[in-house]
Amino acid sequence: MATKRKTTGRKGIRRIRTRSTSKKGARVSGRKTKIPRYVYYFGDGHADGSGSMKPLLGGKGANLHEMTRIGLPVPPGFTITTEVCSYFYDHKRTYPPQLEARVAAALARVEKSAGKKLGDRDRPLLVSVRSGARDSMPGMMDTILNLGMNDEVVETVAKKTNNARFAWDSYRRFLQMYGDVVMGVQKRPGEDHEPFESVIEHLKDERYGKHDFPDVRLTAADLNELVQRFKALIKERAGKSFPQDPRAQLWGAISAVFGSWMNDRAIVYRRKYGIPHDWGTAVNVQTMVFGNMGKTSATGVAFTRDPATGEKVFYGEYLINAQGEDVVAGVRTPHPIADLAKEMPAAHKDLMKVRAILERHFKDMQDLEFTVEENHLYILQTRNGKRTGHAAVRIAVDMVDEKLITKKEAVRRIPADSLAHLLAPIFDRQSAREAKKIGSGLAAGPGAASGHVVFSAEEAVARSEKGDKVVLARIETSPEDLRGMIAAEGILTSRGGVSSHAALVARQMGKVCVCGATAIQIDYQKRTLSANGTTLKQGDYISVDGTAGEVFQLHRPRLCKCSSLALSIQKRASPIRSTQN
Ligand SMILES: Nc1ncnc2c1ncn2[C@@H]1O[C@H](COP(=O)(O)OP(=O)(O)OP(=O)(O)O)[C@@H](O)[C@H]1O
Ligand SMILES: [Mg+2]
Repeated sequence: MATKRKTTGRKGIRRIRTRSTSKKGARVSGRKTKIPRYVYYFGDGHADGSGSMKPLLGGKGANLHEMTRIGLPVPPGFTITTEVCSYFYDHKRTYPPQLEARVAAALARVEKSAGKKLGDRDRPLLVSVRSGARDSMPGMMDTILNLGMNDEVVETVAKKTNNARFAWDSYRRFLQMYGDVVMGVQKRPGEDHEPFESVIEHLKDERYGKHDFPDVRLTAADLNELVQRFKALIKERAGKSFPQDPRAQLWGAISAVFGSWMNDRAIVYRRKYGIPHDWGTAVNVQTMVFGNMGKTSATGVAFTRDPATGEKVFYGEYLINAQGEDVVAGVRTPHPIADLAKEMPAAHKDLMKVRAILERHFKDMQDLEFTVEENHLYILQTRNGKRTGHAAVRIAVDMVDEKLITKKEAVRRIPADSLAHLLAPIFDRQSAREAKKIGSGLAAGPGAASGHVVFSAEEAVARSEKGDKVVLARIETSPEDLRGMIAAEGILTSRGGVSSHAALVARQMGKVCVCGATAIQIDYQKRTLSANGTTLKQGDYISVDGTAGEVFQLHRPRLCKCSSLALSIQKRASPIRSTQN
C-alpha cells in the first residue's frame, strides 16, 4: 500500500546540502546559496534539459528532453528532478518549500501549450505522472495515466470528443491506477487476482456470461458501471474516497511515484543490478495522448533492431484502441509491428522515420514507446534497448560496419556476461523430439530450462531456497513476480507478446522464457497446467525451450554437448556479471 510503502533504506539516501528556504539567493553563513531549479520543462521544440542530464532528470526524463530538442513529436510536460527525491527521503517525505510554486509554473506552461487546463470544465487537460530513474528499471516503479479525470471532466471529455466510450474507458483506467498506486488497493497476500481486475471479470460474467470477454467490446455503459464499482471498491478498501480535485490527484500521484522508489520490487531490482539506493527517481508529468480513441488510435513498443537476435529489422508490437499499459501487461496479445504498415500506413511511415532518426542520434539500438492518436504519431519514451548476448554481439558488429560506432566502442558495449548468454545450454534436438511437446509460444529468452512447475512467485522462491529447480508458469507476469522470476530456471506464460513483462525481464536477466503459449491453460486455484491432453500438477516436471519457443513434459532432458561447457563458463562468469543499460 502507498501508506505502507517501505521506508527502510532511508539511511542510504543521499543527504543534499541544506539550503536556505527563505528567499532565492539568501545568504547562509555569509555564503550565497543557490536554490536548485527542481523542475525542468519540455515541449514544442524547447527543452530546459537534455539527454546528458540523466543523473538529474532520470533516463526517461533526459531522453524526453533530448527527443523534444531534436524535433520529435513528444507531448509537452515537465520533469521533477532526482534531487527532489533525495530531499523527500531526507525530510520525512516532504518537499522543498519552493517546489509547489515551481510545479504550478511548469504546469501553467504545459496548459498554455496544450490550450487546456487541469480540471477545467470546458477544456480539461489530462496528464500522466511517470517515474524515471537514472538507469532504466523497466516496470519497477509506478506510472499513472489520465490524471485529471473526475465525475465532471469525464462528461466534458465524452461531449467534446463525441466518444463516451473513450471518456469512460480513460476514467476507469485512471481509477484503477490511482486506486492501486496512490491509495494502495492491491492484491492481498494469497489473492491471485488484482482486486480491480476481479471487478472487471465479475461485470463481464454478469453481462456477457464470460469473464474473458474482450475489454474493447465493453460499452460506455459497462465502463460507466465499472467506474462506479471502482469508486466503491476504493472507498471500501482504502477507507476514504477517491479525490475529485485534480490538484490533489496530482500531488498524490507525485508522492506515490517518489514513494515507488522504495517499493519492494524496486529495491529487489536495484540489489540485483547494483543500482545505488541514493540515486532516486525523477517524476515526469506529461500531457496525455490517447491510443484508446477508436480504430484510428493505437499504442505500442518497438525496438529499432531485434533484441533477441540483433538482426536489423524493426521489431515490436502494438494494440489498436488501447493505452500503454495494455501492451506491457500482456492482457491482450498484441499485433506484430509489420501489420501497422497495413492498418495505419501514415503512422507506420512516420514511425520508420523516427526509428532512423533515433538510431542516428543515440548511436545504439533503441527501445521506444509510441502512441497513435487519431492517426497522429507521438513518441513517449526511448532508451538503449536491453538485448540478449547474441544480439549484443551482432548489433555491435553491424554498427561498426554501418559506421555508427568505432570498434573500440563496439567492444565496450558487449557486457561480460554476454559470453554466458551465447553459450546458454540448449536441448539436444533428439531428446526434444522424443519428449512430449505440450505447447508452444514465443521464443522470448533463449536457452533450455527444466524443473518443477510452480504457479506463484512465492512457491518459486520457497522451493528454490530448498535447492529445487523450478519453472515459473503464470498466465502473465507482473513486477510483483520479480523474486520468483529470479529464483526460477525458466519462465512460461500463456498470455502476452514479445514486449510483455515476462519477455522484458527474461531478456534482461538472460532467463529462459517462452511467453504467450496460448494453448496452455493455467489454473491458479487448482494449481494445474493443461495442454495437448496433458495436465501437470504443481511440482511436476516441465521443460521449456526458449530458443525454439517450445514446452515439454520431459523428465530427463539431454542438453546439447556444448552445454556442459556453457554451464561451467556460466558458473565462473557469474561473479563478474555486469549489467547493460
Ligand atoms: N502522456 C502519456 N500519454 C499516453 N501514454 C502514456 C503517457 N505517459 C505514459 N504513457 C504510457 O503508459 C505506459 C507506462 O508508462 P511509463 O513509460 O512511464 O512506465 P513503464 O513503461 O511501465 O515503465 P518504465 O519506467 O520502464 O518506462 C507506457 O506504455 C507509456 O507509453
Ligand atoms: Mg515506459
